[in-house]
Amino acid sequence: MLKDWRIKCLVPDLPELDEVAPFIRRMDTARWYSNFGPLVSEFEQAMAGMLAKTSALPADSLSVASFSSATTALELLFRAAGLKEGARILTPALTFAATASSIRITGHTPVLCDVDTHTWDLTPAIARALLKTHQFDAVLPVAIYGFPVDMDAWAAFQAETGVRVFVDAAAALGQQAVHPDVPVCFSLHATKPFGIGEGGILVTGDAELAGHARRLSNFAFIDGTSREIGTNAKLAEVLAAYGLAQIGRFDAVQTRRREVLDQYLARLGAGRFHPRINDFVPGTLLYDTGDRAQAAVARLNGAGIQTRQWYFPPLRDHAAFAGIEILSAGGTGAMPVVDRLQTGLVGLPFHAFLSGADIDEIAEGLEAVLGA
Ligand SMILES: Cc1ncc(COP(=O)(O)O)c(C=O)c1O
Repeated sequence: MLKDWRIKCLVPDLPELDEVAPFIRRMDTARWYSNFGPLVSEFEQAMAGMLAKTSALPADSLSVASFSSATTALELLFRAAGLKEGARILTPALTFAATASSIRITGHTPVLCDVDTHTWDLTPAIARALLKTHQFDAVLPVAIYGFPVDMDAWAAFQAETGVRVFVDAAAALGQQAVHPDVPVCFSLHATKPFGIGEGGILVTGDAELAGHARRLSNFAFIDGTSREIGTNAKLAEVLAAYGLAQIGRFDAVQTRRREVLDQYLARLGAGRFHPRINDFVPGTLLYDTGDRAQAAVARLNGAGIQTRQWYFPPLRDHAAFAGIEILSAGGTGAMPVVDRLQTGLVGLPFHAFLSGADIDEIAEGLEAVLGA
């Protein structure tokens, strides 16, 4: 049953009717609703321009392909990348189910590892160390909670080791720099910083890779016949209309999120947030209670404040991933950092519509459990 929380964890910040209307009118006039219509093409080009600009890349250096979700973007990226059947792809033990399911559903093998204490993610240093004792064919780091991965470091890792790198930056649009050599997928789900309802994009400097993934999203048709097995994972024109309107207001969206984060930091300090909280505005706001997560959740929920414990339990404990291989230096399959974070992390309400009074109330609830 859906509970009606007084203070919700996530509230989408999407364009309203008046902002979307000019784009929808163009769709009406063209009577073109799907199958790579003009709004989807314009959205992909505008997104490529926006991401190239924020990553200090030439405007024409990136290809963007849009899909029905980040999950289908990841799946079709793995299909298009031409990895060998059953390729072993290293990904962090702390992530959303879609990260690993997109690997498995495309016939590959997800292998997990513990995360770094500072970034809460799989870093190039972890992958390099594991490569000395283990074999894997590709790496899929995750921009955890919307904190970006170090793209230049991953591009260097890929060049040095020959191990392919793909990035799941589902929650990090606006924070994650892109790199032409490292394909990255972003989610456009309603609750993400750049929300349109449902959608996802693949961003890469490899126009052929983007084109192949795009083709797979439309039954792999070339001239009306399928040369390989495709699917239907296209972005509809109406959602591209939301995307174009969202691009026009994204600076304001990011400013609002920054202001809410600054209020949290002023009230609670930075110490219990992600170690890089002063440098980036995350997608979801996790607070480290040490080992008091359950008590904090009970206190906040009891006061009508919603919390979420992303991404716990970890994948290892999902029935779908039972027995999944976890690589570790000593071969024990231990993941002490993820296990420790599980006892501490609580996802707090974080969205543009929180008031100062809401944040005070959340802080008071946390202080009641942890002490001021
Ligand atoms: C890390 C990560 N990967 C993938 C996804 C899937 O994104 P989508 O809902 O657009 O399929 C999510 C969604 O929350 C996510 O957090």
